[in-house]
Amino acid sequence: LAAVSVSEAASGINPDTRASSRAVQSALPACWEEAWGQPSRFLTKQVSALREQIETLALGIPTLDRSEDLGSLVGSAALRSAALHRWYYYKEGFAPELPHIIADELGTGGGVVLDPFAGVGTSLLALRSRGDCSSVIGIEYSPFAHFVATAKLSAHLLDPTRLRVHAEALTGFKRDGRKLRIPALSSFADPRIFDRSDLYDLLAARDAIVTAPALSNDERSFFLLGLAAIVEDTSGAMKDGRALRIRNGRRRRPNALTPTEDARDGDGVRVMLHNQWLAMIEDLETSPTAEISAEAQVVRGDARTLANLESSDSVIADGSVGLAVFSPPYLNCIDYTEVYKLELWLLGMVQDQSGFRRLREGTLRSHPSVRFPQRQTPFIGRADVFAVVEAISSFLEERLPRAPVGRMVLHYFQDMHEVLTRLAHVLEPGAAMACVVANSTFSRRARVGDALSEDWRVPVLTDVLLARLAEAAGFESLEIWSARDLRPRNVSTGSARESVVVGRMGGSQ
Ligand SMILES: C[S@@+](CC[C@H](N)C(=O)[O-])C[C@H]1O[C@@H](n2cnc3c(N)ncnc32)[C@H](O)[C@@H]1O
Repeated sequence: LAAVSVSEAASGINPDTRASSRAVQSALPACWEEAWGQPSRFLTKQVSALREQIETLALGIPTLDRSEDLGSLVGSAALRSAALHRWYYYKEGFAPELPHIIADELGTGGGVVLDPFAGVGTSLLALRSRGDCSSVIGIEYSPFAHFVATAKLSAHLLDPTRLRVHAEALTGFKRDGRKLRIPALSSFADPRIFDRSDLYDLLAARDAIVTAPALSNDERSFFLLGLAAIVEDTSGAMKDGRALRIRNGRRRRPNALTPTEDARDGDGVRVMLHNQWLAMIEDLETSPTAEISAEAQVVRGDARTLANLESSDSVIADGSVGLAVFSPPYLNCIDYTEVYKLELWLLGMVQDQSGFRRLREGTLRSHPSVRFPQRQTPFIGRADVFAVVEAISSFLEERLPRAPVGRMVLHYFQDMHEVLTRLAHVLEPGAAMACVVANSTFSRRARVGDALSEDWRVPVLTDVLLARLAEAAGFESLEIWSARDLRPRNVSTGSARESVVVGRMGGSQ
């Protein structure tokens, strides 16, 4: 595509807050040419055809460079230090400041804010103290992330003095190896992952928390969350991109917390639990609960239906939401169920392999780890967008060694289309949505002699496709706020934009 025209951003988004931003009327990334690499001459025609289709969709979407103010906020670094948020480090989260900026710029309408991919509750925790939010609702599928979010959201009701007394008692847990139930996941029996003594300590601590008669349910959740937060640090494994891998001497950044006072030295389970719990209590002592003004709750549900998983009841009434802020799983093959399996099994949220598989099957189809049950998800509304998705998916399915990865692309956009369509129903007229997402690159490399040579490369502009799917669902004034460039894992050059896709329902707010 030749030149892109530059003009002032023209949309329903509050212009005052970013008067200096200029929007480019094409959502093609700066290094678009490079992003395609050099396809083998046998594929030049097919690759060019795909590229042209994607370019056509990108044209005309106002795209703003927001790297200065949002670049550091779309990632999870701030979650390591922010009080309460830091209780469990969730790599897939965004900074608590991000939903604030979004709410400032887009407004919260009648005051109900929804995060349909709530994760560990970052946006709910951040927004519940705003005067313009009356209620913040999250939907989260993973029982573990849901547990973390719920525990953090109810922690302000706890009495830190009581917690200190319980923490002291619980760190004195007794260990009786014969009575301990070891989770049936093979990782717990792998000596490279768990030293027996540490494992017994973890299990004994878990049982002590679960059976302590003096704890209220919220207190129990508080201590179990502290236990979950130290599991990876006590193990010989590390969360590494798509999987939980054996550490094998590689460096791992610690996640467990240390209090400012009364910290103990050492890396045994008892010491780490003591330090983690005390740091969490310090956060409670210093976080002003008086500021919490909105009701906040997170429901275990599915973002595609916005329904509660247990009752199948819809969680949100149509036309009731003033702002939706969220970040769905990215199109990057990461299976959260796999990455968080130690926590899931240790806390008893998964007990056997069939339960583990069932859990995976209900996730958004952003990974190829299982054969997902069929979903009836008709693409309705924008044949041109669906044609591009189908073309990318078929290209990848035919040419990748793992065909399910190609199919995943189709399923991912079908699922996101369902999410956006459902969202359009629950938003008030004129209400906005902001979706944080990253683009992906797929490629195929073949060995030529000693070297690996790239056969082809396809950058998928997920933000553009989601913007167009949002239009198909009824959103208007679509924009892309470009936040930062990530380096794709599988290619040596090029970048993958991480951005916020913003849109508004028709009608006035
Ligand atoms: C990128 S993370 C969101 C993180 C969140 N913004 C935070 O800061 O904690 C995406 C979340 O979507 C959840 N998820 C996956 N499939 C889902 C579904 N069908 N419905 C709702 N949530 C789902 C994952 O478990 C994960 O927690």
